[in-house]
Amino acid sequence: MKNLKFINNKLYILDQRLLPNEEKWIEITSKEQAYNAIHTLMVRGAPAIGVFAGFAMAVFANENNLYELKKYLDSARPTAVNLSWATQRIVTASQNGKNLIDEARSIQEEDIEMCRKISTHGLSLLKDGDGILTHCNAGELAASKYGTGLGPLILGQEKGYSFRVFSDETRPLLQGARLTSYELEKAGIDVTLICDNMASLVMKKGLIDAVLVGCDRIAANGDTANKIGTSALAVLAKYYDIPFYVLGPYSTVDFDCRNGDDIVIEERNGDEIKEMYFKNPTALKETKCFNPSFDVTDHSLITAIITDKGIVYPPFEKNLKETIK
Ligand code: MRU
Repeated sequence: MKNLKFINNKLYILDQRLLPNEEKWIEITSKEQAYNAIHTLMVRGAPAIGVFAGFAMAVFANENNLYELKKYLDSARPTAVNLSWATQRIVTASQNGKNLIDEARSIQEEDIEMCRKISTHGLSLLKDGDGILTHCNAGELAASKYGTGLGPLILGQEKGYSFRVFSDETRPLLQGARLTSYELEKAGIDVTLICDNMASLVMKKGLIDAVLVGCDRIAANGDTANKIGTSALAVLAKYYDIPFYVLGPYSTVDFDCRNGDDIVIEERNGDEIKEMYFKNPTALKETKCFNPSFDVTDHSLITAIITDKGIVYPPFEKNLKETIK
C-alpha cells in the first residue's frame, strides 16, 4: 500500500478522499497544491503528512524561501507534530548544505523503520486470535509502511497471527470505514466495520482484548491528541478493563507541551458533518456544527504508549523522558 510516489523528480499522492471507490494519483506541482493536499486530507495521517511535507519542501525549495514555505505548509494542519518536525528537518538539512531530496528520502526510510519497530513492540503485547478495536486510520495509508495503530496487526498478519478487528467508522470523515476497512481487507485481515457509537456494545460483549490507536501529538505528561472520539473509547476501555494502547513514533512526543491543554486542536469546517459523503445534507444549512478534528486522551486512561524506542508505561512524565530524550 502506498500513499506517495516520487518518480523522476515528480511528486504524486494517492487522493485518499476518493478511497475506497477510486484509486487516483495526483501530481503535486505547486506549494499551493501541496498545502491543499494536506488541508483537504488528500494525504492524511500524522507520519504520512510529515513525509509528504518533506518531499514538498525539497521539490519547491528552489522557487521559495524555505522558512516561508515551512510556515505555510505547517499551517495546513496544526495538531500533528510530525508536519512541523519534518519541515524543520528539511530546513536544518539546507542549513547544513545537504541534498534536500536525499533528506526527504531519509525521513521516509526512517518512518518505515520507526513503524516497523512500533509494530514489533505492539505485537509483543497481543495474542493470536485477539479482538482489537481501532479508530480512524493509523495504517499504511497514514504512514510509509505498516502504520502505527494498525502496524502490529499488519506485521502480525505477515507472521501468521489472526486477529479480529473492529473498525470504528470515525465520523465525520469516515477514515475507519473508507480507509481502515479497505486496507485491512486488502491485507487479508478479518475486519468488521461498526459505527462509532457501537464501541461500548462490542466491549461489553467481550469481543475486544485491546484498543489500538495512532496519535498526532503526545504531551510531556502522556496526554495524547488523537482522532476525535478516541478519548471516549479510552473511558470505555477503562470501564471494561481493556488495555488501551496509543502508538506513535518518538517524533510525536512534544516536550514543549506540558499537558493536553497545550496541544492546539484543529477545528474544521462544520459543514463536513452535514455534507461529506452524504448524497444530501443531513441537517439544515442554518444548523450550527462544531467539528474539532482531534481530542485529548488523558494519560490516566492510557495503559501504555508504544513508540519505536520502546513501550512506555506510567508514570509517563518520568518514563517518556527516560525513553525518548
Ligand atoms: O485527520 P487524519 O485522518 O489525518 O487523522 C489521522 C489520525 O488521527 C491518526 O490516527 C493519526 O494521525 C496517527 S496516523 C498513523
